[in-house]
Amino acid sequence: MKLWGGRFSKETASLVDQFNASIGFDQKLYKVDIMGSIAHAKMLGKSQIITPAEAQKIVEGLQSVLEDIESGQVEFQLAYEDIHMNIEKLLTDKIGDAGKKLHTARSRNDQVAVDIRLYLREEIEIICGLLKKLLISLTDLADNHVETVMPGYTHLQRAQPITFGYHMMAYFQMFKRDYERLKDCYKRVNIMPLGAGALAGTTYATDRDFLTAELGFSAYCDNSLDAVSDRDFVIEFISDASLVMMHLSRFCEELILWSSAEFQFVEMDDAYSTGSSIMPQKKNPDVAELIRGKTGRIYGNLTNILTIMKALPLAYNKDMQEDKPPLFDTVENLKDCLEIFDAMVTTMKIRKDKMKKATREGFMNATDVADYLVKKGLPFRSAHEVVGKMVLYCIQVQKAIEDLTIEEFLSFSPDFAEDIFPVITAEHCIASKVSKGSTAPENVKIMIEKARAYTASL
Ligand code: ARG
Repeated sequence: MKLWGGRFSKETASLVDQFNASIGFDQKLYKVDIMGSIAHAKMLGKSQIITPAEAQKIVEGLQSVLEDIESGQVEFQLAYEDIHMNIEKLLTDKIGDAGKKLHTARSRNDQVAVDIRLYLREEIEIICGLLKKLLISLTDLADNHVETVMPGYTHLQRAQPITFGYHMMAYFQMFKRDYERLKDCYKRVNIMPLGAGALAGTTYATDRDFLTAELGFSAYCDNSLDAVSDRDFVIEFISDASLVMMHLSRFCEELILWSSAEFQFVEMDDAYSTGSSIMPQKKNPDVAELIRGKTGRIYGNLTNILTIMKALPLAYNKDMQEDKPPLFDTVENLKDCLEIFDAMVTTMKIRKDKMKKATREGFMNATDVADYLVKKGLPFRSAHEVVGKMVLYCIQVQKAIEDLTIEEFLSFSPDFAEDIFPVITAEHCIASKVSKGSTAPENVKIMIEKARAYTASL
């Protein structure tokens, strides 16, 4: 007999039972469902909607159901559709009639809404913890490489020399914003929907202030119709997660490139690489590739939930049961990716020699040569033209700019002098970037200091 079976004179088709059930995936919510129900039962007792003795019996019954589930004694039943009705059934089997009073002044619509919020609240905390760990790892990495010279790229063409520490701190900023977005999202997740009933509120003197305090929410949903209708907080979370993944995917893409024989800037630790079943020499950056790949999956989850919610009339519609697979999948994969990514970047080997060598090719000091001429009085556009011609010449004679003789320099402009040589080393090009926030070691040190103060404040 279904918990809602009273109005029906015929059983549902077994195909419908299977199709309709969400217990296969929403059993993940058992703990928060019980947490919400305990608070609800306490509220019912306190507000004299049921007797305090009944409330007490329900609370103890629910605690015992929780123990049964956690000790593996429970097999959830498809016949009871979802986690909410499975738990209610387990409770009623255990304590009898008092259990049937738990659902007074409540609907599964506000129940599922509170469950998702309780679940997501906890998961956001865990994810923020993982992001904080990554922020610290990146700061440590940067700290060790404030002076490590590497090529900076635009269009994936060598552009200007920078440091590896500077590059790491760029990612620090991105993940810092991700952290803040999630913390902000938390504020909107942490609102309490119980008391909304199915959609209109309830006829009972439900104490929503008590429920809010008991479950540690910051406020209750002001409009009950909204409380049971919206999942914008799920969408917001998955879009924040998509941004984290987008950043991870860019970082991974760079690590994949950098591990290639063409770059050789980094080498993944053996513990975070895999081999080939046919090519004995291979060491593949699979972990980085898989994180890059999972980014597509998270974007898919975002499109999934956005499309589910599009154009749904108020209030609850069964479509919304489909919110959970993309949400759970996002949470699980994001946590895995963050954890493994941190381990991968903190164990990889950084090949300073190869990075330095790469800055010797590609005329990365060309802008600095132009800036030198500007300091000697040439307008920047004219200096750009002179250096462009020098680069063309260098390509023809197969020399780096810094390898030209002073005579060769002078053939392009009378403004050159011997003092050109010390200013066009990669180290000097980097150190001379005096603008705040630049790649110069003194500026990167300031970034690192700020970063340390920031992560210490979290
Ligand atoms: N399993 C449902 C879900 O996840 C619970 C809410 C059901 N409410 C309803 N009115 N059928 O959305």
